[in-house]
Amino acid sequence: MALPVDVDTAATLLREGKLVAIPTETVYGLGADAEQPDAVARIFAAKGRPTSHPLIVHLRSADALDEGWAANVPPAARRLADVLWPGPLTLILQRGPRALDAVTGGLSTVGLRVPAHPLARALLDRVAGIAAPSANRFGSVSPTTAEHVQRDLGDRIDAVLDGGPCEVGIESTIVDVSTGVPRILRPGGISREALEEILGAPVPMAGEDAPRAPGMLASHYAPRAKVIAVAPSDASRRAHELAREASTLIALLAPPTLALDLPDSVERIDVPADPRDRARTLYQSLRAIDERGFERAIVVLPDDERGLGLAIADRLRKAGAPKD
Ligand code: TXA
Ligand code: MG
Repeated sequence: MALPVDVDTAATLLREGKLVAIPTETVYGLGADAEQPDAVARIFAAKGRPTSHPLIVHLRSADALDEGWAANVPPAARRLADVLWPGPLTLILQRGPRALDAVTGGLSTVGLRVPAHPLARALLDRVAGIAAPSANRFGSVSPTTAEHVQRDLGDRIDAVLDGGPCEVGIESTIVDVSTGVPRILRPGGISREALEEILGAPVPMAGEDAPRAPGMLASHYAPRAKVIAVAPSDASRRAHELAREASTLIALLAPPTLALDLPDSVERIDVPADPRDRARTLYQSLRAIDERGFERAIVVLPDDERGLGLAIADRLRKAGAPKD
């Protein structure tokens, strides 16, 4: 088990080059001092993540944009940072001299975010830049409690700072502002509509030619069970089809408000209809599929893919993508 620590001890350990899992409002991060390449390298080893997948650097406040982490900060980036930080937004910017190759994987850009969780902020008062991916093994479901971190990585990291369950529950929205046109690389806790309102212009989702982002790999955020993501209107039909093929019980995750006609071998598990509550409990619900021993699960997509619905649908589709 990783050592449960308070903020001061967490800061001391980070300064010593150790790995500390930290709470953020989105998901728990696996943190290292962003200015120590050896410490950052240990993150990749602990997660089993390829080093070509860059890390986000977490900072204390938007003022840090002018402290050497980023090179050019275009007006659109400033505007988003001013309105949305601290919060679930990551900005991809041209890197500055403080953004190490160990963090960026040698890219010319760096991902920066100011998290809102009070313990993360207290830690960032003591350590200027914390590199942190989600604190899960590569490809599996992100942790939203300290207990999830312990189960996934407890024997591979030094300490955990427990800040309670994460309030947003789904990762930050990543916006690439390193080129002329802001684009969304990963939908997340800030909606596309909010970005567009702030910038007064459409913010497109990046196409397949976008810079590498593991969040964009087909299979990601996946439980062990085989997951199938379906539209609400298809759920009953697909449940009957799958029940005919499978000999074991199948889980079906849907809000209680959805009327369904299900065969006996499909066990319905309720998830919140409200998008905020669904996002907050999304990864917990995917973990529950494995914990309850299901080998197959049908997850019903949100009926509205605006707002948080876009990120929820993205994660559910990725949980259901083929694993090879
Ligand atoms: O909410 C979050 O963003 C959480 C918390 C801990 O802050 N972090 C998180 O980190 O989700 P991670 O490493 O699991 O996902 C970060 C994503 C990856 O897909 C990575 O490729 C992308 O950000 N990324 C980081 N730097 C990048 C860059 N310079 N260019 C393009 N994508 C980048
Ligand atoms: Mg991740």
